[in-house]
Amino acid sequence: MSTNFPMLSAFLALVGLSLFYPVSSQFSPGFPYDSQKVRGVNLGGWLVLEPWITPSVFDNTGNPNIVDEWTFGQYYDRATATNILQNHWNTWITQDDFANIAAAGLNHVRLPIGYWAFEVGSGEPYIQGQLPYLQNAVQWASQYGLKLIIDLHGAPGSQNGYDNSGQRMSYPTWQSNQTNIARTDAIIKEIASMFADQANVVPIIAPLNEPAGYYGSSMLTPLRQYYYDSYGNIRYPYGTSTQSNTVVLLHDAFQPLSYWDGFETAPDFQGVAMDTHIYQVFSNADVQMSWQSHIDTACDTQSTLSDFDLWLMVGEWSPAITDCATYLNGRGNGARYDGSYPGSTYVGSCTGLTGSASTFSSSYKTFLRQFWEAQVISYERSNGWLMWTWKTESADEWSYLAGLQNGWIPWSPTDLEYPTICG
Ligand SMILES: *[C@@H]1O[C@H](CO)[C@@H](O)[C@H](O)[C@H]1NC(C)=O
Repeated sequence: MSTNFPMLSAFLALVGLSLFYPVSSQFSPGFPYDSQKVRGVNLGGWLVLEPWITPSVFDNTGNPNIVDEWTFGQYYDRATATNILQNHWNTWITQDDFANIAAAGLNHVRLPIGYWAFEVGSGEPYIQGQLPYLQNAVQWASQYGLKLIIDLHGAPGSQNGYDNSGQRMSYPTWQSNQTNIARTDAIIKEIASMFADQANVVPIIAPLNEPAGYYGSSMLTPLRQYYYDSYGNIRYPYGTSTQSNTVVLLHDAFQPLSYWDGFETAPDFQGVAMDTHIYQVFSNADVQMSWQSHIDTACDTQSTLSDFDLWLMVGEWSPAITDCATYLNGRGNGARYDGSYPGSTYVGSCTGLTGSASTFSSSYKTFLRQFWEAQVISYERSNGWLMWTWKTESADEWSYLAGLQNGWIPWSPTDLEYPTICG
């Protein structure tokens, strides 16, 4: 195949879609995205392990080579690993969390899940058993009036090489292997058909979290094709011309929103939304900013977020201003903020900026509230936001729950103390 093949197939897919998929006016999403703001939180570190969200799960293995869920299955005694995972799934997020999320005035949760919950290939060390918990989550969401976004966080081969894709690697391989992509298509089809008739509880499926678009066309060309195929799989789950009410939420692949101008837009497409993630901690320049610069940077996002041709949401963001949380940059890796990460220079000590809120100064907690509010105000220029993440073991600056308990997040997300912080 020549390099022209992916472009040609993308073109044919487009033509095929517009001929084959009739656009109906019956589409009725499970949440009024045109008139109400998404206000939500991610359930990180539950059905996909993340070392920095639950460091103890990794430390307790006693094996420094266990750095993600893949190596957790690969290097750990199978029976022990299975018991630990089941205990984690039973305890990390429970019905009480859904009750608290609803009590905090939120209307959405985004639930990351890995492909291995659905299908494990031969030679892949993943441990299964997540699906009953996904079903519990949907039932609890329904019970507490919350909308649940199912987010495929890890695809075969890894779409970004991050530990949170299941497999930490120096270069992702999802995009370069048609078998990986076909397996992902099949899983999205399966998820879409599982929840096709429950769009009032599962209004959105996100077919791929954070594909590493910064690698250029080798990622973006197969990704665009995958996004066309996902549109068909999610919006037409019945194998007929009948549309679902399920919205497709596409991650921007770290491209500027302008890159996606005109992609899967009306009138040929409907029920498509774009997801962008905004963090201010993953570069040396980010962690060097003053508190005021962090707030100004959040406020400055307003112009880009208010003018996009699809529904747009900020599906991940955080009030964190350092990368100090243990294992945030991967198990065994240090932080840019205190200069312990390769290529970084010391900005300051991490003490008092991560860990338990009991070590946070009152001025830091006041700042966290201001920065949280500046982001909420700004991100509501889009169709809404979902903070990362609901709970952490030992990084309270990232925890919605810790923010509620310690006063830097209000029990109602519209109850702002600094409503004019962005001017
Ligand atoms: C492609 O990925 C599949 C798993 O999805 C794997 O079995 C196969 O070996 C990979 N092929 C190549 C050429 O790497």
